[in-house]
Amino acid sequence: MAVSKVGVVGGGLMGHGITQICAQAGWDVVMREVDDDKVAGCVGKIEKQLARAVEKGRMEADEAESVRGRIEATTDYGALADCDLVIEAITEDLGMKLEMWKEVDSIVKEEAYFATNTSSLAVIDQAASTSRPDRFLGLHFFNPAQVMPLLEVVQTVTTSDDALKVGFEVGEKLGKTMVHAKDKTGFIVNRLLVPYMLDAIRAYEEGVGSIEEIDVAMKAGANHPMGPLTLADFVGLDTLASIGSVMFDEYRERRFAAPPTLRKMVAAGWYGRKSGKGFYHYSGEKPVPTELGL
Ligand code: CAA
Ligand code: NAD
Repeated sequence: MAVSKVGVVGGGLMGHGITQICAQAGWDVVMREVDDDKVAGCVGKIEKQLARAVEKGRMEADEAESVRGRIEATTDYGALADCDLVIEAITEDLGMKLEMWKEVDSIVKEEAYFATNTSSLAVIDQAASTSRPDRFLGLHFFNPAQVMPLLEVVQTVTTSDDALKVGFEVGEKLGKTMVHAKDKTGFIVNRLLVPYMLDAIRAYEEGVGSIEEIDVAMKAGANHPMGPLTLADFVGLDTLASIGSVMFDEYRERRFAAPPTLRKMVAAGWYGRKSGKGFYHYSGEKPVPTELGL
């Protein structure tokens, strides 16, 4: 089945980017969020990105308008009914995802494909909860979805070859670099990247370096675009803690466990860049390291 209309559930850090690139690829997109404020937040972020692209000469103004015109942003699950593919990008919480699929599965046409953008949860647990485990796969985008080239196309035990092919066709149309990943917790990238970010937090806890020193060192010493603590803030500390907890449950290895500092920061509501505070404060012109009193 050819994809011409895509549903995106969740319009946060990842969902807004996935919505934008799908609309830029020429598909009609329905983005579903939980309330009007979240809908407005998602649309506002996309409009800002489109305005920036026009300002920088990367996009004509009328093209940006067409892209915006292809996006329907709503709180109504019913608007997803005739989508050919629904990609979920909601909070990294299995219970919430299963609740959401219960709604979506009962509304969306039978022949549509479903995909999860989960960072760490096993794809099979979501696939098996729907009436179409054969048409369910993982499409793991990277943050920011508008910029990062990689897409992990994840095949779980129930994913049909046809659904996998659709996943690759979607990635191709989005211009992504793709890898075929197995349904193993963390897939390829997070299996390697998440322990690295968590270890940077442990290094900080152990006094190996200050927040800034750890970040400067990895940027200047390993040529990473962001230091690991800046990256943790960028991913979202709540999301990182959830990923760590899922990976630790699966593998029972310390390297995947969320360090105490991370758990405390999440409990305090310091989610990183998206909440304005994490390892850095983001209220001023430049990020300022947070005094964590360790
Ligand atoms: N959303 C959309 N576009 C963005 C953006 C954002 N949040 N941030 C930057 N961009 C765009 C900018 O518009 C800019 O394009 P133009 O110059 O054409 O306007 C381009 O990206 C470069 O941005 P900047 O010059 O401002 O900054 P930069 O050169 O430092 O690049 C970056 C920004 C691409 C984010 C870079 O810092 C980077 O690659 N960081 C690492 C990101 C990373 O590792 N992501 C993976 C996280 S892990 C993950 O996603 C998996 C998971 O499951 C947790
Ligand atoms: P986020 O916290 O920025 O956004 C999650 C959004 O989901 C929120 O806006 C919330 O209101 C919305 N939501 C919750 N339940 C919903 C529902 N039933 N219907 C519609 N919307 C709902 O999180 P995020 O960083 O965008 O992560 C989303 C997913 O993408 C997670 O599974 C995460 O693991 C994965 N992911 C995250 C990153 C990253 O770097 N942050 C990268 C790749 C994948």
